[in-house]
Amino acid sequence: MRSLLCITLVCWIAVVSSSTIRQTPLYEDFSTGGLSPSVWKIGKKVWGGYADQAKTIPSSGGVVPENVKVVKRNKAAASGSKYYLRLEAHGNKYQGNVYGIDFEGERRTDEEGKKRVGAVIATQDYFASGAYEVRAKLTRYAPDQHHGGGVCNAFWTFSYQSFPQGDPQWKDTPESHGGDYVKNHEIDIEIPGGRKISFNYSLLTYWQGVNGDSRGKKPYGLYQGQQHGYDEFISIQKDNGKDLRRSSLTGPDGRTGWHVFRFEWHTVNGTRHIRYVFDGVEVHDSKNDDKLKGPLGTGTTGDFYVPFVGSRFWLGVWFPYSFQNHWTGEPEFDVDAMLVDYVKIEPYNEAGDVVPHETGAERGWAATSEYPKRPQ
Ligand SMILES: *[C@@H]1O[C@H](CO)[C@@H](O)[C@H](O)[C@H]1NC(C)=O
Ligand SMILES: *[C@@H]1O[C@H](CO)[C@@H](O)[C@H](O)[C@H]1NC(C)=O
Repeated sequence: MRSLLCITLVCWIAVVSSSTIRQTPLYEDFSTGGLSPSVWKIGKKVWGGYADQAKTIPSSGGVVPENVKVVKRNKAAASGSKYYLRLEAHGNKYQGNVYGIDFEGERRTDEEGKKRVGAVIATQDYFASGAYEVRAKLTRYAPDQHHGGGVCNAFWTFSYQSFPQGDPQWKDTPESHGGDYVKNHEIDIEIPGGRKISFNYSLLTYWQGVNGDSRGKKPYGLYQGQQHGYDEFISIQKDNGKDLRRSSLTGPDGRTGWHVFRFEWHTVNGTRHIRYVFDGVEVHDSKNDDKLKGPLGTGTTGDFYVPFVGSRFWLGVWFPYSFQNHWTGEPEFDVDAMLVDYVKIEPYNEAGDVVPHETGAERGWAATSEYPKRPQ
């Protein structure tokens, strides 16, 4: 009885400690020459699809801490930082010694397991409404902007909660077929964007679930006025009219090609929305998703799909590469990288922010001993 109570208490503390929403800003310019485990988590996990129909083998080696590197600047930052972040991606032609991992988080030992291995970091703290900004330089491959290059360059918030059958919050939905009910609050910027594989496009997405309507109404999923399933996400493919790998902005590598990627997330019910802003120019506001009505046309706008639960902020490079679909193209390169000058989060602390209770939030991260030791 006593030990049970202790276990319960430990679990309770763990849930509470990971579920507060941070209200103070975060600014990271890598000036310490490393990544602090109290500020950043480093991804060590696999997602993005299966290599086989039986769904036993991951199609990529996931993301690993070896690919997260802090490097010396060619040009000191205005802030005085001497370092910046390099998130490396290993493609189909990779010849080095870094292996990816499998679904259990174990190191792969097969040569195929060295291919398609990326890198991500995520905040230790949870944030909700606020401005999220990253000054970054995207991966360079492929040779022209019409061939995606096989890597997804991404900046996103993520909060995941699943309810097994028997849980009072469990709901059956047409998509879940009696499985777990999942709330997946998420905002994404992904480049190159979806249906057209090109660095001219960015995919701007926001979610509330993965298998049913998290508001308990009839499942729906309207896209451009047409029902197309039971998802609760909106995905906008934005034509930026230019190759997002290029720009005249010079960054810490001493070269051009840098951009400032930003979104502003508002959580107050009725006016929930997300503004996506690149280089100071609005590229999309979810308020304009006016064709995306709620169930039976009752929704106001995309508001129905805009998240409100506190989330970690993630950034990095990963490989969407299932046996069915390579939606960013073919990664026919050896080594590539997304470079990051700074990350800035300014919380708005709006009344709509909801405290998260994530499932499995502490799984799939590197141990402190695996963090980058010294700048390169
Ligand atoms: C990307 O933008 C450039 C510049 O406007 C244009 O020349 C090119 O055709 C565009 N490519 C695609 C795939 O839209
Ligand atoms: C806002 O609406 C969601 C349902 O969409 C609800 O779960 C949440 O509690 C509401 N928040 C407030 C502050 O009323």
